[in-house]
Amino acid sequence: MRKKTVRDVDPKGKRVFVRVDFNVPLQDGSIVDDTRIRASLPTLKDLLDRGASLIAASHLGRPKGKVKPELSLAPVARRLGDLLGRPVEMLSDCVGPEVEQAAKALSPGDVVMLENLRFHAEEEKGDEGFARQLAGLADLYVNDAFGAAHRSHASTAVIAKFLPGSMGLLVEKEVEVLTRVLESPERPLVAILGGVKAKIGVLQNLVKRVDALIIGGGQAYTFLKAKGLEIGESVLDRDSFELAKGILSQTAHGKPRLLLPTDVVVTTPDGVEFEPSIKRVEGVPIRVAASDAIPADMMGVDIGPETRKLFAEEIKSAKCVVWNGPMGITEIPEFREGTRSVAQSLADSEAYSVIGGGDVVAAVQQLGFGEKFNHICTGGGASLEFLEGKELPGIAALPDR
Ligand code: 3PG
Repeated sequence: MRKKTVRDVDPKGKRVFVRVDFNVPLQDGSIVDDTRIRASLPTLKDLLDRGASLIAASHLGRPKGKVKPELSLAPVARRLGDLLGRPVEMLSDCVGPEVEQAAKALSPGDVVMLENLRFHAEEEKGDEGFARQLAGLADLYVNDAFGAAHRSHASTAVIAKFLPGSMGLLVEKEVEVLTRVLESPERPLVAILGGVKAKIGVLQNLVKRVDALIIGGGQAYTFLKAKGLEIGESVLDRDSFELAKGILSQTAHGKPRLLLPTDVVVTTPDGVEFEPSIKRVEGVPIRVAASDAIPADMMGVDIGPETRKLFAEEIKSAKCVVWNGPMGITEIPEFREGTRSVAQSLADSEAYSVIGGGDVVAAVQQLGFGEKFNHICTGGGASLEFLEGKELPGIAALPDR
């Protein structure tokens, strides 16, 4: 690891500003999934064990510089206290005299949680004055917010100008895993990409590195169309149509192998209600169609059974697999089978498996596969930008060893 990590610093008796990504899903004020809180526990515990006091800071949602009580981090502070087994004092803001007082009064072993950083517009603007105020609360800065490492915000990047910084254990692990996939994977390396929109940068970077590229989910229809097939009412992502053509010609000689669906599950466009939430409309037809025979009045919503077998075979012989994006509309049980099948194939395989991206992570966890993979990224956007080959601002801002 080129950058300083928390292992390289002595936090004894120091007040440590730890930027975490506790942007967790909430429903009626309750935390639906606390994976991100648990993921930062090793860093927080390590610092506490070594005699530090902690100022934990995070954003929650996108309040856009306004105080939104429903986006308060108070429920998160309570959960953090339960998980750490010690009190976590929730502060009413993240800057200002009261917060400064609380920070000054910290003794080793104490933990406070700042209120949502994004209640101040300066956070997302990367405002230096605001970053200085945050830095003024502490002696050291630790960035453990992998999920926000692609943001160049006051607390994720700019603050590192004003405090000795290092990365937390979660960021270190995420960087190590994704670097292994990109730089030194066991081969064959297989990338599985799904979701509606093709991630252009990710595709361009991965196509150069993988042995096989599996495309499923909504973006597969753009590829089928680029191949000259009719896709009926299936989703077409015009922005990536030319890219899809490019990938088809780059892979025309089988290096890497490109696997597209050979059959898909189809329904009529009125078969899925997207607003206010995604639901299947009962009574509309569902059937399987060959990819070159998608009926003009139907749309693809999942990969078909033949495709599931094809993908399973490829996954079986892989030694390293990176997966981003679901294979179908996983919100609807009937259109979740493709994603389940890929998850099962991966769970059965010996490949080193890395899963990233909010939708697919939520889907595999809901399907009960959460523990079956080697690594589940805590950052959706951040892992994608990493896979694009970009340096993440939150990491770039940290000093070298
Ligand atoms: C995430 O959930 O991907 C991170 O917390 C970043 O959130 P953002 O996309 O609102 O910056």
